[in-house]
Amino acid sequence: MTAARRVLVLHGPNLNLLGRREPEIYGSMTLAEIDERLRQLGAAHGIEVICAQSNHEGELVDLLQRYGWDVIGVVLNPGALTHYSIALRDAVAAIPAPVVEVHLSNIHAREPFRHRSVIAPVAVGQICGFGPMSYELALMYLIRRAEGASG
Ligand code: DQA
Repeated sequence: MTAARRVLVLHGPNLNLLGRREPEIYGSMTLAEIDERLRQLGAAHGIEVICAQSNHEGELVDLLQRYGWDVIGVVLNPGALTHYSIALRDAVAAIPAPVVEVHLSNIHAREPFRHRSVIAPVAVGQICGFGPMSYELALMYLIRRAEGASG
């Protein structure tokens, strides 16, 4: 499989706790289950999905730098870093791969400090509030975009 048929799915801090973490907000599905669904969805379209999670800002920056020239796109849930990480924002802006920002919860319907995303202005778009489906919608967008779909 060539590099151009790959998507990076990147999860930020605390998302390793999915399934156990505030299930009333984030649901009961684990990160491993979400990643498996994404790998299957990608495979059905001939796309390799590479999944990674880190609780560390610098490691997320490293991963964006490593894959940013080598994938058709990135699905990024930056977790709390969404709201303040200029380092992550700069990494998103630096790479040529389109980045879709995703959130399980609807950040705009939650505490005011979650309403602002420093990532959104440099992402191609933001999908939030659809639980694990937020990731699937983002992946489908990147696949269709790579196939040259216009609308
Ligand atoms: C989140 C929303 C963020 O505000 C929060 O800090 C998270 C998860 C989401 O997926 O809904 O860790 O990114």
